[in-house]
Amino acid sequence: MQLSVNLGPRSYPIILENGTAQTLPSALKNAFPKSRFALVTNTVLAALYRGLITEWKEALGCVVYEMPDGERYKTIETWSGILDVLLTSKLERSSIVIALGGGVVGDVAGFAAASFLRGVGYVQIPTTLLAMVDSSVGGKTAVDHPLGKNLIGAFHQPKLVYIDTSFLSTLPDREFVSGYAELFKNAFIGGREMFEFVLANHTAMAAKEMPVLLDGIRRSIAVKAGVVEKDECETSGLRATLNFGHTFAHALERYCNFEKVLHGEAVWWGMRCAITCSRQGGSINGEMTDDYDAIVKIMPKPPLPEKPDPQRLYEMMFTDKKIAQGKLHLVLPTIPGSSVVRNDIPEGVVRSVLTAVFG
Ligand SMILES: NC(=O)c1ccc[n+]([C@@H]2O[C@H](COP(=O)([O-])OP(=O)(O)OC[C@H]3O[C@@H](n4cnc5c(N)ncnc54)[C@H](O)[C@@H]3O)[C@@H](O)[C@H]2O)c1
Repeated sequence: MQLSVNLGPRSYPIILENGTAQTLPSALKNAFPKSRFALVTNTVLAALYRGLITEWKEALGCVVYEMPDGERYKTIETWSGILDVLLTSKLERSSIVIALGGGVVGDVAGFAAASFLRGVGYVQIPTTLLAMVDSSVGGKTAVDHPLGKNLIGAFHQPKLVYIDTSFLSTLPDREFVSGYAELFKNAFIGGREMFEFVLANHTAMAAKEMPVLLDGIRRSIAVKAGVVEKDECETSGLRATLNFGHTFAHALERYCNFEKVLHGEAVWWGMRCAITCSRQGGSINGEMTDDYDAIVKIMPKPPLPEKPDPQRLYEMMFTDKKIAQGKLHLVLPTIPGSSVVRNDIPEGVVRSVLTAVFG
């Protein structure tokens, strides 16, 4: 099936299939008949998919760059290593960079494409659930800096997103649950129908039942694409709604030194905090309580390495890059499937939310 992100001259298709990765080279040659290709992946995927990557390499005649695995390699050094390969391979403006991997590979390879020869095209082939439903769509590319995550980057839309959900068969369960948080998150921002869909199909999706999961991925992408189309470069504030639960989540990730908790795990906790905060801050209407009780009941509670101290967690919320004029900007649910950005929640309420969720 095919979806699209409609951004005028920067529009692109999203192909969503199960088990068609072998046909990728012909799809790419058809879509970009005059281009040369470079493929960026990481050592984990290179080991798992050695045969497939070799087939692609031969069919496309492309160079392959294997970056080390993990967020700690989403750096200027890795970006620079990719550029070295693109330059020494004498790739041109018409070339296409292929990013095969999760959000880390997608972000850094996308940033290399954004900066090489002042910008060449790239194709996202996401292999984690998080990358399928979230990071591969929308054109945010970046590397981390010792002072913070994603601080150096560019908005650069891919030319194509090619999703083959069969890559999920090798994804570790913990990574699957983490990525599923971003799909589940869309229950709160994607409208009433998405809310009902997640509520009704959560068990099947969490069990990786493919037709249902494929539908959930499709719906999630549609939610994200719709937001990106209206606020491509995060200027109107609409794209901020995608950060539902994230101000709390980022504080938790920082609290755990970004090592002991995965991003999506933190997002699960962040969503709980946002729902509790919305209730205490008066954004959830009393009549909606049953709907929220139902969805909170099915949300996983990923294990935490230690019980966080709510007071320290509160302080960490103020080091988030989304803080403006010293005020927290919290994305809070209102009616099922919708949320609002609030910067007027009193300190006492936020502190009591953290105590209620983590205390
Ligand atoms: N650009 C955006 O809009 C956006 C949005 C959300 C997150 N992100 C970024 O995405 C990153 C997180 O992405 P992620 O959760 O995909 O992490 P990741 O890319 O680190 O992948 C998680 C782990 O799974 C492994 N892996 C990937 N695919 C696999 C497969 N099919 N089988 C087995 N193992 C596989 C990876 O090697 C890695 O060890 C963060 O850097 C975050 O900042 C970007």
